[in-house]
Amino acid sequence: MSSLPRRALHFGTNLKMHQTPAETAAFVAGLRGMVGDVIGRADVRLFVIPPFTSLPAAVEAGGDAAIWIGAQNVHWAPEGAYTGEISVRMLQAVGVDLVLIGHAERRGLFHETDAQVNDKVKAALGGRLRVLACVGETAAEKGYGAGPETVIRQLKIALHGVRPEAIERVMVGYEPVWSIGAGGTPARPEDVAAIAGHLRATLRDLYGDAGDRVPILYGGSVDPTNVAGFVALTEIDGAFVGRAAWTVAGYDAVLRAALSARVGQGA
Ligand code: PGA
Repeated sequence: MSSLPRRALHFGTNLKMHQTPAETAAFVAGLRGMVGDVIGRADVRLFVIPPFTSLPAAVEAGGDAAIWIGAQNVHWAPEGAYTGEISVRMLQAVGVDLVLIGHAERRGLFHETDAQVNDKVKAALGGRLRVLACVGETAAEKGYGAGPETVIRQLKIALHGVRPEAIERVMVGYEPVWSIGAGGTPARPEDVAAIAGHLRATLRDLYGDAGDRVPILYGGSVDPTNVAGFVALTEIDGAFVGRAAWTVAGYDAVLRAALSARVGQGA
């Protein structure tokens, strides 16, 4: 809504299955040096989402939540016979701030369902963690003209049963599946604007004014040359970056390009 102040710029990277603990510690420490002038700005939130094994090192290097550290997944049960899974309590004990839930690679490669995404979102929020809940249509869904319906369904199911007081700890990532990774093509800003409008309308339907404050991030082949076109959109509040931000210099370059797009926009 034009009358609202610009939402803070939310910016971060998902390291996927890359980096050892020592590599992540060096990455996060390097970021703290490189983007020290941005850390702590009220209008910017930075985050890094490393593999589970790098989380303790990242939390230590991240320094008192100056950079939010997130996990890439979580199980919905408090504990139990779930070999290979990690619980909310385990993440809390390590000191993470955030959990990524429903990333396209989890949905696509590991068959995560909308209902499981919902169970994970509720478990993470119940444990007072922040959530980055991802939605995005496949190329086939887009081809059928069903992109908006897909992401609205994913968002409604992801947030089902999430109470209004918890929604302020949620960020939504819009990542069209066809735009992600080495074979992906970045979306066009006008298409992202249209989908983000649907997501915002859904958030407002569900949560009223609180839905207006939920950050919506775009992700999928974001780089320093295209990020400005996304974060300048009215309903896009940041970028969720993969490959282009896996080095300190890369993270810095995409972040600076995103910040420059916001100059004159009140953030
Ligand atoms: P990419 O990854 O920037 O390498 O396309 C994005 C993501 O999966 O979040």
